Amino acid sequence: MDLDKLMSKHLTRAFDPTKTIPEETLQQLLKFLRSTPSSTNIQPNHFYVIATAEGKEHLVANLGERFQDNGGKILNSSHTIILTTRADLPESHIKEVFDKETADGRFADPAKRALWQSMTRDFLNLRNYGYKDLNHWMEKQTYMALGMTMMAAAELGVEAMPLEGFDPTSVDKAFKIRETGHTTTVLLALGYPDLTRVYTDPISRFEPDRLFTFA
Ligand SMILES: Cc1cc2nc3c(=O)[nH]c(=O)nc-3n(C[C@H](O)[C@H](O)[C@H](O)COP(=O)(O)O)c2cc1C
Repeated sequence: MDLDKLMSKHLTRAFDPTKTIPEETLQQLLKFLRSTPSSTNIQPNHFYVIATAEGKEHLVANLGERFQDNGGKILNSSHTIILTTRADLPESHIKEVFDKETADGRFADPAKRALWQSMTRDFLNLRNYGYKDLNHWMEKQTYMALGMTMMAAAELGVEAMPLEGFDPTSVDKAFKIRETGHTTTVLLALGYPDLTRVYTDPISRFEPDRLFTFA
């Protein structure tokens, strides 16, 4: 990965519609996305991988009236992922996580497993009833998966463009997402840049002394 290049480039606003991510590369990226960590291993996500022209058109038609300028980015992408997050956290989900950890052999020692599960429940109670930020906390996990996947895409030579410009209620409805207990958090358009439409003006970021405090 060329970090210097990454640091000086704009996110890709214009994709080349003639280019598709090879299946092997896509599978590697999805494998990476699946591997991204989450706090307490809560894994609050489901991902919709929109690959077909019909799927992309359906998504674009449901971005919401004020977000039509994002339509072209999605239509010209190779794939666009809808990253969704649980809208609530039922006991069935917690049990699913614990059962999968057990099946995967995460804790061979039953005492360690019991301690982990009790610490997890304490932490979830704190988020739910103490800090009252359970949904926000779960969506933070989604953003971490988003950021890490953007970096993985760069490593694989794929351009990744996150999109927050959409109406989540409209996208949820279009893909029947709320029915699954999830809600749309963010979109990630993936593909290859249209080389005739690459921004060449410099990127703008705050200076280091505005950003960093050393203590
Ligand atoms: C999480 C996230 C969501 C974004 N959503 C959109 C979007 O919906 N539409 C868009 O055109 N740009 C979107 N952007 C791009 C930002 O506006 C852009 O990265 C920022 O203005 C800096 O510009 P640069 O990447 O060209 O340096 C998004 C960026 C991030 C990180």
